[in-house]
Amino acid sequence: MFWLPFIHSNSVKPSIFEFKFSSLFFIILFFSFDSIKLHSMKIGILGTGGVGRAFATRLSGLGHDVMMGTRDPKATLEKTGEGSFSLFLTLNPGVKLGTFAESAAYGEMVINVSKGSNAIDVIKSAGEKNLNGKVLIDITNPLDFSKGMPPSLIPELSNTNSVGEETQRTVPGAKVVKTLNTMWNGLMINPNLIADGHHVNYLCGNDSDAKEKVKKLLKEFGWKEESLVDLGDITGARATEATLPIWLRVYGARKSGAFNFQIVS
Ligand SMILES: NC(=O)c1ccc[n+]([C@@H]2O[C@H](COP(=O)([O-])OP(=O)(O)OC[C@H]3O[C@@H](n4cnc5c(N)ncnc54)[C@H](OP(=O)(O)O)[C@@H]3O)[C@@H](O)[C@H]2O)c1
Repeated sequence: MFWLPFIHSNSVKPSIFEFKFSSLFFIILFFSFDSIKLHSMKIGILGTGGVGRAFATRLSGLGHDVMMGTRDPKATLEKTGEGSFSLFLTLNPGVKLGTFAESAAYGEMVINVSKGSNAIDVIKSAGEKNLNGKVLIDITNPLDFSKGMPPSLIPELSNTNSVGEETQRTVPGAKVVKTLNTMWNGLMINPNLIADGHHVNYLCGNDSDAKEKVKKLLKEFGWKEESLVDLGDITGARATEATLPIWLRVYGARKSGAFNFQIVS
């Protein structure tokens, strides 16, 4: 019986006081569970590649409610076998799949992890009305793989522009925060895999509250406050996206993505 822990050793039945006390305990427990639930969010993930899947698995594991977005859900589900999205869903039955627009509409917060060269098309498909007022995390990189490896930065989306800025221009009502795009996805969602989590992650965006909300989510992944460096407004994305050429060269030299950069002074 639920009052058992509160029964005095030499009493047979709980006293009124003990009963009330134990009821209070369970009421508090009920509301604590409720407040934990309140922290869980509906999150839309635009993209079904390796990064999208890593985020979906991690966010579901943290208790968030995830809908991933793809161009054509039926076509995405029809593919079977090793590495297929249908196999991923079998292993992650709590994750939902919809179109980019459905995923954006579902999420209280939305994460864009689509192919960088098509990231703006994906944002347009997701729809301005589904993104207005929401925090939109942009993790994409403007990479051109057309001339082989290593890829180069797409000229129109680099140097004096970035996918982050182009995203903000496309959906001015959304609060775009660029972050996590400077590392391998395994570290994005689990920074403590290396160096006890002591490595850098940049954020930039025009809305301070949105950056605070994103920081809160990053801390759920294990990011430490001192590792999170705010680069200011969304034009900071020019700089973070421009770290990709050096990241790719280091990756080529080390043959492993499990590394990151750190600021020391
Ligand atoms: N891999 C990493 O560790 C890493 C690290 C840092 C940043 N990033 C960035 O994260 C993003 C995702 O990377 P990823 O390797 O998971 O996946 P990806 O292969 O770059 O992108 C997969 C997603 O892009 C969509 N897509 C592809 N071509 C499209 C087109 N023509 N029009 C509209 N959508 C299209 C796909 O839609 P469908 O679902 O319909 O196929 C899919 O959902 C990239 O921007 C990448 O630069 C990756």
